[in-house]
Amino acid sequence: MAVENGRNGGNKDMDEASTSKSQEGEEKSSGGRGDQQKPGKSKGDEETKTVPFLKLFSFADSTDILLMILGTIGAVGNGASFPIMTILFGDLINSFGENQNGKEVVHLISKVSLKFVYLGLGAAVAAFFQVACWMVTGERQAARIRGKYLTTILKQDIAFFDKETNTGEVVGRMSGDTVLIQDAMGEKVGKFIQLVSTFIGGFIIAFIKGWLLTLVMLSSIPPLVIAGAGLAIVIARMATRGQTAYAKAAIVVEQTIGSIRTVASFTGERQALSNYKKFLATAYTSGVQEGFTSGLGLGIVMLLVFCSYALAVWFGGKMILEKGYSGGSVLNVIVAVLVGSMSLGQASPCLSSFAGGQAAAYKMFETINRKPEIDSSDTRGKVLDDIGGDVELRDVYFTYPARPDEQIFAGFSLFIPSGTTAALVGQSGSGKSTVISLIERFYDPQAGEVLIDGINLKEFQLKWIREKIGLVSQEPVLFASSIKDNIAYGKDGATTEEIKAAAELANAAKFIDKLPQVLNWFPLHNF
Ligand SMILES: Nc1ncnc2c1ncn2[C@@H]1O[C@H](COP(=O)(O)OP(=O)(O)OP(=O)(O)O)[C@@H](O)[C@H]1O
Ligand SMILES: [Mg+2]
Repeated sequence: MAVENGRNGGNKDMDEASTSKSQEGEEKSSGGRGDQQKPGKSKGDEETKTVPFLKLFSFADSTDILLMILGTIGAVGNGASFPIMTILFGDLINSFGENQNGKEVVHLISKVSLKFVYLGLGAAVAAFFQVACWMVTGERQAARIRGKYLTTILKQDIAFFDKETNTGEVVGRMSGDTVLIQDAMGEKVGKFIQLVSTFIGGFIIAFIKGWLLTLVMLSSIPPLVIAGAGLAIVIARMATRGQTAYAKAAIVVEQTIGSIRTVASFTGERQALSNYKKFLATAYTSGVQEGFTSGLGLGIVMLLVFCSYALAVWFGGKMILEKGYSGGSVLNVIVAVLVGSMSLGQASPCLSSFAGGQAAAYKMFETINRKPEIDSSDTRGKVLDDIGGDVELRDVYFTYPARPDEQIFAGFSLFIPSGTTAALVGQSGSGKSTVISLIERFYDPQAGEVLIDGINLKEFQLKWIREKIGLVSQEPVLFASSIKDNIAYGKDGATTEEIKAAAELANAAKFIDKLPQVLNWFPLHNF
């Protein structure tokens, strides 16, 4: 409609609204929007804000809940298998120790051996449920989050894309952040429950079998935990730094490739390369530091583990002499405490990935919950049988949300009667495209009205009125399929006749007929 008859009305106000200065401003601001402001801003948000852990599961359905319950039971069982193993281990040592020369030894040992088999079977089932259930539910929920995110992104108003996001960010969130979220609410949860269960089980058994030795051994836990947790925190921080650098590098690539013609015309390839390399260097440095810290941390943990073995073996010997412990129960306690405390140390990477997921979820969930002011999926509003095509802008005041201090229209009016062809003429930046954006209702004016057939645009159902408007914009985009498909985008379920008619109306039928595989399958490349 805008194309058919939208080009005839007055351009009287155009020159008023236009300044060459404003054009300059646009370029600066859009450059700034993409390059500097976004990453800085979102980085600040992500570092401080997180969602509560349980909120990560807000998209779980009943199947997911069942899977999570089964997975939790499996994880508890799997985690308990190690402490139970230490009891068998103690029995084993006693069977050996007490019957070194007797004929009984094989009989006794085979009894213990059989218990190991039962334990193995139980652990196998539990481990299966733990890993399978948590992984499946993680995948299901992450897929749902991705879908929901894209759905909400697509129904946002144009102002959202002006101000709050860019392609790189959306793609990055959908591929990167969902992985972090999935990591935090899938297999890692099972692993964490398993480790906690090992920890608790290990200490219960150790206290039952020999509380005094356990208490002495407890002295080795704080340094182990401190070393493990400190390590995890440092690694997580460096990983975040690396990720941020990679994200920034990805934005450079996305923007360079996205506007390769502009970059090429300014021979800006070299600059893009050096920008990219700069971010990669940051990522590399944090990768190297991460490697050194992990190595050092692991070394310290190993040192502590073996030193605590030394303490335990020595004190255990004393206990055998003074308190009548058996060799088996000393070893049982030692192994149970070590298994328990090591599992606590291993739990810290899980905690850091929970934190990562919670942070990644914040921005995503915020977007998912965002209600656009102009909602294209809203089905309320007027739908007319037929549309006349009178277009009117009445006393419109408008500024772009991204640049609230630049008044584009101040009391602008325009009337284009149905059936006429109108052309808007004016300097670059005078607001011609803005008129179209207002008629398409990409934005709402701050004051005044945009009317079609005398009805305020806001009263129409947005999807319906947009279907009625054909728009070929300054920078046409053709989707990578046939011309037929591209034309058919304009209307759901368009027939071939309608597509042909549209092509003829647009004066495009002749050149399309000349194309090799008429209309249908011609692939759109290098057009
Ligand atoms: N999305 C946007 N956010 C902020 N400012 C914008 C946006 N789009 C356009 N502007 C600004 O609004 C003013 C009018 O722009 P508009 O695109 O309507 O001009 P135009 O008349 O179509 O120019 P051209 O002839 O170059 O297409 C310009 O100053 C421009 O910088
Ligand atoms: Mg324009």
